[in-house]
Amino acid sequence: DAPQPLKGRHVLITAGPTREPIDPVRYLSNHSSGKQGYAIASACRALGATVTLVSGPVNIAPPVGVNLVAVETARDMLSACEGALPADVFISVAAVADWRAKDTGANKIKKDKDGLPQLDLVENPDILKTLSKAESRPSLVIGFAAETNDVIDHAKAKLARKGCNWIIANDVSGDVMGGDENAMIVVKPDSVTEWPRQSKMDAAKALANLIAEHLS
Ligand code: C5P
Repeated sequence: DAPQPLKGRHVLITAGPTREPIDPVRYLSNHSSGKQGYAIASACRALGATVTLVSGPVNIAPPVGVNLVAVETARDMLSACEGALPADVFISVAAVADWRAKDTGANKIKKDKDGLPQLDLVENPDILKTLSKAESRPSLVIGFAAETNDVIDHAKAKLARKGCNWIIANDVSGDVMGGDENAMIVVKPDSVTEWPRQSKMDAAKALANLIAEHLS
């Protein structure tokens, strides 16, 4: 049998987009496919971890043996994560919508001959920041940073701002979003390691191994 260095560990992972209703038939969201988060869930499971995968709406099947909690909004995702604690590791891969509509009525917004509807937005909770500061904070908290420029500088700033242990930065100026490959940059407070471009599954395995090594 394969070695199980994460046996007995609970790994909590968010993945996919969130979907924020505007009215009963419309929503705000983004193009996250969930592939990278699902691959990380699968890789952690393969190393023996108990995995909770809190996922927004995606079109891929959950990995076998993983506890899937399906959510839609950022607020649902936060409550599901808080409900899943305690965990040894939190990996925040989800592309959480930054904003949601301030008011969502019970009825569909009508096209109005008097002009365009006004959409007021409010900020969503920051799940990564909230769990990083939680009383029952997982001992290892890992955030993701999708950047198009000054990738490492932004990642270092994010590490401090969010209060997490590591940031996995990736350059999304190319075709990473929704694609099958990723080039991860592992940013820790005192080191920056660039990994080669590889499949999202291979990147996930490398990350799971790094986590196992860190916890051992
Ligand atoms: O601030 P920014 O969105 O660039 O940070 C990205 C990181 O923060 C990702 O790990 C993402 O999962 C997490 N995040 C979150 N809740 C939000 C926004 C981002 O957990 N509302």
